[in-house]
Amino acid sequence: MTHDQPLRIEIATPSRPYPVLVGAGSLTRVGTALDEAGLGPSQFVVSSPTVWGFWGESFHEAQPEAAPIIVPDGERHKTPGGVSRIYDALLKGGADRSAALVTFGGGVIGDMGGFAAATYMRGIRLAHVPTTLLAQVDAAIGGKVGVNLPGGKNLVGAFYQPSVVVIDPGVLSTLPRREFRAGLYEVIKYGVACDASLFEQVSRELGPLTRRDPAALVPVIAACCRVKGAIVAGDEREAGGRRVLNFGHTVGHALEAGTKYRRLLHGESVGYGMLAACALASARGALASSDRDTIAGAIAQLGPLPPVNDLSAAAQLEFMRHDKKVHEGRLHFVLPTGIGASQIVTDVSEAELLRALRDLGLRE
Ligand code: NAD
Ligand code: GLY
Repeated sequence: MTHDQPLRIEIATPSRPYPVLVGAGSLTRVGTALDEAGLGPSQFVVSSPTVWGFWGESFHEAQPEAAPIIVPDGERHKTPGGVSRIYDALLKGGADRSAALVTFGGGVIGDMGGFAAATYMRGIRLAHVPTTLLAQVDAAIGGKVGVNLPGGKNLVGAFYQPSVVVIDPGVLSTLPRREFRAGLYEVIKYGVACDASLFEQVSRELGPLTRRDPAALVPVIAACCRVKGAIVAGDEREAGGRRVLNFGHTVGHALEAGTKYRRLLHGESVGYGMLAACALASARGALASSDRDTIAGAIAQLGPLPPVNDLSAAAQLEFMRHDKKVHEGRLHFVLPTGIGASQIVTDVSEAELLRALRDLGLRE
């Protein structure tokens, strides 16, 4: 593993600007990065048994002062109860308002730990050290934190920006293959919705990327952080432009909820959601069928998605009616209009949606 200087990407969100540091070997310098970001001497690190088992020693060597709080991860643990465990550990560890919380794990740890930091004593400082590809390219950037309720995903949360994000692609070496692939769907999401050159780069370098070669991963992760950073800097609280990042998420969230968060990984559900959005766009004549085929080909190249053909399309519609993306009774959909371009529409009918869901193989 090379230990070059990390790439530094500035995220200029109005509530708090912060750097994202991307580089192989960044974990060995995490203590310095956290100190330079002003986290102060009272630091707590929230991680999961899996991540801490693989990488806790390395983290601890680089930042011996941070007291570990270990909580279970996985989507079904992303609940108010999970956050409560973090509050309890902070209280027990004597954390006051000068404390800082570092999340060290995937998107679940980042979202739960981030929400705990946003709310504990009305907000303590936060840093993210993401350890899945999905969290490195998406969840750790932009300040969305929160948890699920039985009625739906991410229904309780906040916008709360970290002081720094430290990304080391080296930690991805222990990530299960399926989890790694789940992150690649989010990379494809950025490419299709916002950045044609990123889409081409990923299609071209799929071999080295799937071998997790840091030389291929660093520029792709950095490109995703730049794309997301620019979007959230322009629309931190998702009043407009940020909605484009929800490409693939409307159908995706419904499928996740419809399978009780047990069958599909978040990235896989986004894979299905992108296919559904392409079907909708293409049926409306907004997306050329050649572009639809190219996007579907890139998604298929990552490998098979878990089956969803036992699910009822009508039941998924019901989940979508409760989605956060419903505004004034209308569901907002991000539809691609080409590779690297998309539009937000609010007039997708239930008949169109049912057709797109059946296109994915769902039953009546
Ligand atoms: P995850 O956090 O559940 O992690 C997936 C699995 O990988 C877990 O079992 C974890 O223990 C394991 N793991 C993590 N790092 C590892 C490593 N380096 N080596 C070995 N195993 C490792 O899943 P995820 O895909 O990272 O995140 C999904 C969550 O992120 C969802 O809840 C989603 O809603 C959220 N999300 C949030 C945002 C946001 O903007 N806040 C964006 C996208 C997704
Ligand atoms: N993952 C979508 C967003 O952060 O807005």
